[in-house]
Amino acid sequence: MSAEPRRLDRPWVLDATVRRAVNLRPAGPADRQQIWLWRNEPETRAASFNSATIPWDAHERWFDSALLRDDRRIFIIEADAVAVGTARLDIVEREASVSIHLAREWQGQGVGSSALSRLAELAFNDFGIDRLIASTKSDNRASLAAFAKAGFKAVEPGRIVRLERWRSS
Ligand SMILES: CC(C)(COP(=O)(O)OP(=O)(O)OC[C@H]1O[C@@H](n2cnc3c(N)ncnc32)[C@H](O)[C@@H]1OP(=O)(O)O)[C@@H](O)C(=O)NCCC(=O)NCCS
Repeated sequence: MSAEPRRLDRPWVLDATVRRAVNLRPAGPADRQQIWLWRNEPETRAASFNSATIPWDAHERWFDSALLRDDRRIFIIEADAVAVGTARLDIVEREASVSIHLAREWQGQGVGSSALSRLAELAFNDFGIDRLIASTKSDNRASLAAFAKAGFKAVEPGRIVRLERWRSS
């Protein structure tokens, strides 16, 4: 096998086999509009339990109040330092529910599963969470696979699949 780095014929096309450095940073006021745009993309609306388009005013109110809450933590997912999506923890005592969505053009490249693993590390190590929970539509194969790769187990099958991951002792 050659040690040469793999050269792409069309370097501007994203290569799904390239592993990207995935990081999370806390979201801030400057991310308000980008998160709204991502949330209203058709794939994310289709995956959401509320698939309606979110009006700007409602998003602005929700987002600005979320930034002030200790029990809601919103992160920007960065791939190779580019903002590509968002993930959220909604915390109740030592449990948190997880939501995630990526910009359409960044889906299916391994970023979602890496971001969920990173989110779990943060939740367990920095926020004192013992159990993460998530729910996803049973036909959302990308979501089911990404959560499974990040160590989540399906605990309740059905039209809505409930998933969980515990802190390892
Ligand atoms: C769900 C989501 C976060 C997953 O992140 P992602 O980066 O697209 O997923 P990954 O590339 O990490 O893929 C994880 C696994 O799912 C598989 N996968 C990805 N897209 C898939 C698809 N459309 N159908 C079937 N499997 C798929 C991948 O092959 C991978 O498995 P593998 O490594 O064994 O090949 C992302 O697709 C997304 O934002 N979707 C829209 C919003 C959404 O569905 N949010 C979750 C609601 S709970």
